[in-house]
Amino acid sequence: MSNIKNLFNKVKEKVSSSKNTYELDLIYSKFLGKNSYLSKLTKKIHLISLKDRSYVGKLINKVKYDITNIISKHRAYLEKKTLEKSITDEKIDITLPGRTNRIGGLHPITSAIIDINYFFYKLNFINVPGLEIEDSYHNFDALNIPINHPSRNPKDTFWLDKEILLRTQTSSIQVRYMKHNKPPIRIISFGKVYRKDYNITHTPMFHQMEGLVVDRNINLLHLKHIMCKFLNFFFNKKKIIRFRMSYFPFTEPSIEIDIMNNNNWLEVIGCGMVHPKVLKNLNINTKIFSGFAFGLGIERLVMIRYNINDIRYFFKNDLRFLKQFK
Ligand code: DAH
Repeated sequence: MSNIKNLFNKVKEKVSSSKNTYELDLIYSKFLGKNSYLSKLTKKIHLISLKDRSYVGKLINKVKYDITNIISKHRAYLEKKTLEKSITDEKIDITLPGRTNRIGGLHPITSAIIDINYFFYKLNFINVPGLEIEDSYHNFDALNIPINHPSRNPKDTFWLDKEILLRTQTSSIQVRYMKHNKPPIRIISFGKVYRKDYNITHTPMFHQMEGLVVDRNINLLHLKHIMCKFLNFFFNKKKIIRFRMSYFPFTEPSIEIDIMNNNNWLEVIGCGMVHPKVLKNLNINTKIFSGFAFGLGIERLVMIRYNINDIRYFFKNDLRFLKQFK
């Protein structure tokens, strides 16, 4: 009997000093499991005289019951402590916004192209594709650009060999289209163009849009009207615009359109009546047909649209910049 009492005290001590439920499991199997002292004792109970047997049996059962009890109490205590600790340690800020899927958006250049295309689509222009790798005939010669013109210089232009280059302007599309199509012509084209330049207003690759109309009785007023309407549409308000005489080898007269922005005139569109030499180069009868053409840099327009002061932002893939246009 004193063995049993000692045993119980020993178990009590072990239980109260155990730090986790795993230690409790070990104590349980050591003192109540198959090979425990108490199990062995129970198996030998028939050796005790009948007179004492029931008393000893009851005592063993009581000790078993008490051990189970203190283990389960301590287990509950440990579990409560673990829970409390995890509640204080793992605080959740339920006011934080949930995690959502990040949805991408269109690049501001892409959305500008979509907008511009929509405007001209409504005027019955068709959008035609061009080539980024061009030859000097389509990029220069047929457009009446003289052989010694600075834009042909390898300092400014990416030549791939003597004849082949990365196009410097989308105007080459005018040549390609007129080669295969007769008037009436009413096209626009968008695409990348390449020039050796890098600073806050120039990147070696940028986007241009080209437009060409060739038909009977086309005159400068048609051009002016469409350009005014287009700029008001693109900037979504009436802009102050200036038409300034200029020079391009492939138009006569040539005009540059400036737009008033923050008290400055900014040049945004090059245009003019298609030079008769260009039409003749492409076998279009200049006695019957005349045309106008225009070209613009998309980045330049988008910079004015959103007050962006450095063209290089468009190509840095900085999400902080791009996210603003979603
Ligand atoms: N290709 C010219 C440039 O890159 C822009 C231009 C000017 C296009 C006049 C035209 C035009 O179609 O008529 O600077």
